[in-house]
Amino acid sequence: MEYRAATRHDAWHVARLLIQLYEVEAPGMLTGDLEFSALIVRRALEHNDCSALLGAYYLQTLDDRPTGIGAVATAESPRRALWYPNLPTDARRLLGVRSGRAFVRGLKKLMGALVNPIREHEAMLHSIVIDRDVRRHGIGAHLLRVLEEEAGRREKVSSVLYVLNGNPAEQFYERFGYHTIRVTDGSRWGKKAAYPSIAMRKPLLRRAPSVLARASR
Ligand SMILES: CC(C)(COP(=O)(O)OP(=O)(O)OC[C@H]1O[C@@H](n2cnc3c(N)ncnc32)[C@H](O)[C@@H]1OP(=O)(O)O)[C@@H](O)C(=O)NCCC(=O)NCCS
Repeated sequence: MEYRAATRHDAWHVARLLIQLYEVEAPGMLTGDLEFSALIVRRALEHNDCSALLGAYYLQTLDDRPTGIGAVATAESPRRALWYPNLPTDARRLLGVRSGRAFVRGLKKLMGALVNPIREHEAMLHSIVIDRDVRRHGIGAHLLRVLEEEAGRREKVSSVLYVLNGNPAEQFYERFGYHTIRVTDGSRWGKKAAYPSIAMRKPLLRRAPSVLARASR
C-alpha cells in the first residue's frame, strides 16, 4: 500500500471515492446519476485553488489502483469548501431539477461541518473512505494510522472526526481508540445546517514518525 498527496490528475479518483462517502454520510443527497454527481464533485475539486484543495487528500493506492482517501485539517490548514459558483446550475442541468436540488442541499449540509472549529492542538480527520470493493480487509485501519501519523508530525496531540449518526464507521473508530465527545443534531440558528453527527476524539502519540515523510525520502 502506498500513500501520496492527491494531485489534479487524481481528481476523478478522489471524486468517485467522495461519492461513495456521500452515499453513506449524506442521506438523500444522491438521487440522480452517480457518474454525473461525481463529475460535479470533480469540477469542484478542480475549481480555482485545486492544488490546495486536492492536496489535502491523501490517496491510498494498492498495486497502483486508488483504493482510499482521507484528509487531515488543522487550524493552520483548515478544511476547504467543495464548491464553485456554477455548481447549482451544473447540478440542475446534469441531474435534473429535483435531484440537482437534493445534491446542492446535501453538499451544503456536508459543508456545515466546516464551521466546526479546529483547536490549535488538534487535527481534524475527514473524508475517510475506502473503495467499497475492498472494505473489511484492514485497509481503512492502515489509512487511519497514516492520517494519525501525519497529525502527529504536525505536532497535534489529539485527532477529532465527525461520523454521521448510525454510520457503522463509528464502530471502526471506536475499535481504534476514538471515543464520543459530543452528539449534535446539526441545527444552527434553528435550521438543519449540517447532518446530525457524533464528534469523536483520540489522544495521539506525540511526534510519531510519518509514513508519508518516510515514503517521500
Ligand atoms: C469506515 C471505513 C473507512 C473502514 O474501512 P475498512 O477498510 O473497511 O476497515 P478495516 O477493514 O480496516 O476494519 C478494521 C476494523 O474496524 C471495524 N469495522 C470496520 N468496518 C466496520 C463496519 N462497517 N461495522 C462494524 N465494524 C467495522 C471492525 O472491527 C474491523 O475489523 P474486522 O474486519 O476484523 O472485524 C469503510 O467502511 C468505508 O469507507 N465506509 C464508507 C465511508 C465512511 O463511512 N467513512 C467514514 C466517514 S466518517
